[in-house]
Amino acid sequence: MRTEYRRPVAVITGASRGLGFLLARGLAERGHDLVLNARSAEGLDVARRDLETRGARVEAVPADVSVPAEAQRLVDTAVEHFGRLDVLVGNAGTIQVGPAAAMLAEDYATAMDVMYWGLVHSTLASLPVLRRHGGRILAVTSVGGKLPAPHLLPYTAAKHAAVGFAEGLRVEAARDGVSVTVGVPGLMRTGSPRNALFTGDRAAEYRWFAVADSLPLLSMDAERAARKLIDATLRGRPEIILTPAAKLGVRVHGLAPATTLRVLAGVNQLLPSTVDPGPRPGHTTSSPRWFDMLTGLTRSAAQRWHQHDDKTAHHGEPARP
Ligand SMILES: NC(=O)c1ccc[n+]([C@@H]2O[C@H](COP(=O)([O-])OP(=O)(O)OC[C@H]3O[C@@H](n4cnc5c(N)ncnc54)[C@H](OP(=O)(O)O)[C@@H]3O)[C@@H](O)[C@H]2O)c1
Repeated sequence: MRTEYRRPVAVITGASRGLGFLLARGLAERGHDLVLNARSAEGLDVARRDLETRGARVEAVPADVSVPAEAQRLVDTAVEHFGRLDVLVGNAGTIQVGPAAAMLAEDYATAMDVMYWGLVHSTLASLPVLRRHGGRILAVTSVGGKLPAPHLLPYTAAKHAAVGFAEGLRVEAARDGVSVTVGVPGLMRTGSPRNALFTGDRAAEYRWFAVADSLPLLSMDAERAARKLIDATLRGRPEIILTPAAKLGVRVHGLAPATTLRVLAGVNQLLPSTVDPGPRPGHTTSSPRWFDMLTGLTRSAAQRWHQHDDKTAHHGEPARP
């Protein structure tokens, strides 16, 4: 019979790069062994090698969390290799940026598959094991799951579903000793514009998204965000909203939703417009010099948090060099 390890064990979905990688690194620093997941084996390998230098035992499981049997494999790996599971971080995500007029039903399905069903499948697989040790779940949602960010409709819809699932589960899982923390980040500098998918006027969409992502007043350092999310999760807090802008937006939307909807419709007027469905969501290409200067923080985050290594994620147009 397998001897149970004493060290706590965490499964992190979407851990090959960006926030998921930083959450895995933070949990390793807090004494956890890790089961890392993403679809790209190559991306996972880079993350695994980095994390092993921090003293954690790491199992990497290339899998698509939107497929129930693949999500189950993450939990089975934790139990088979480490004998236990204490923390599930449901972080895997994708983002399609562009006007609603350029989005097709398949874009909504993709967003729901990863960010709603991926969270549901990995959670349902984990719950029976998490109940044994009074485990913790961190659902990484978004401010886009609390109010509608323009030009992100499939993302917004899927994140609203994820918030509903995580909040509802929080209420019911408590009696089994499992705590659910609903993580609600605003913009963080994870370097994700590199791997985001753009449609409509792709270059213009990429520009506003990457600039917003890089502005210190609007976006948050991703390492700091990961630390705060881990603290909240290990303490069993019900919810954590990150960035002052996101906190303000969520509070105002709760009190005066008609006002925020009007304001956001105004913001939408400032974004690129397109009449017809554009190209299918894909990565963008070139950018002017002023843009590179404005997005220095985001590009540096992309390099540090392994956004450049995940070549198999670069479907669509080639990413910027
Ligand atoms: N960055 C922000 O400003 C921000 C703000 C609010 C919320 N968030 C949320 O935070 C989370 C992480 O964001 P990020 O910026 O770090 O994104 P990111 O850099 O694009 O990383 C996404 C991760 O998810 C994995 N993934 C995507 N689809 C998957 C699937 N079907 N199964 C398993 N893994 C999958 C990706 O690897 P593969 O492609 O190899 O699968 C990658 O490891 C997401 O849920 C995002 O919505 C981000």
